[in-house]
Amino acid sequence: MRLDLGDLHIAPLAAADIQPFVAYRRLPDVARYQSWSPDYSLADGQRLVDAQAGRDFPEKDEWMQFGIHTNGRLAGDLAIHPLADQPDSYEFGVTLDPAHHGAGIATRALTAAIDHLFDARRAHRVLAECDERNDAVKRLLARLGLRHEGTARAADWYKGEWTSVETWALLASER
Ligand SMILES: CC(C)(COP(=O)(O)OP(=O)(O)OC[C@H]1O[C@@H](n2cnc3c(N)ncnc32)[C@H](O)[C@@H]1OP(=O)(O)O)[C@@H](O)C(=O)NCCC(=O)NCCS
Repeated sequence: MRLDLGDLHIAPLAAADIQPFVAYRRLPDVARYQSWSPDYSLADGQRLVDAQAGRDFPEKDEWMQFGIHTNGRLAGDLAIHPLADQPDSYEFGVTLDPAHHGAGIATRALTAAIDHLFDARRAHRVLAECDERNDAVKRLLARLGLRHEGTARAADWYKGEWTSVETWALLASER
């Protein structure tokens, strides 16, 4: 998937992105509600880019990371995961470098990615999961038009404590 929004470009994460990608993944505030920790290394970033090399879109049950570039610089990334057990169903995630928070970049990038999933990939359902305490992403998901489907209470043993996980989704029939 490659999307050109004028001043924003979305493309598979590439070797040139690894250094800035790793730099913001190592920030404790960025890692807080995510699957990695601040010891995320350049080698981890290299492995991630190598694992998805040559691909434009993820296979079923794979996560693939796409860089969000503004003026040629990496501002953040979004990830897409076609569910293994349901057809035409895509989970997504997003992270921005804090230097680019609060400017609408995630909203614009995900609006374009979600449009791509529905229009070009004929998605039936797109969804995101987030930690109940992650207010910034909850505001983002609501802004994108997703519905809060429910909260799994203290369902995930995560970074040393039970956490509650919200699911947000949008159906093709609801657009
Ligand atoms: C989730 C995350 C990407 C949201 O970033 P963000 O900067 O709030 O989102 P956007 O880029 O869409 O910017 C929207 C914010 O900018 C403001 N804004 C300013 N100009 C704007 C514009 N032109 N268009 C839209 N919003 C604009 C909005 O009011 C909004 O702020 P608010 O939520 O305080 O009301 C960011 O908090 C992050 O990277 N968190 C760490 C990683 C993480 O936890 N990811 C979630 C995993 S599920």
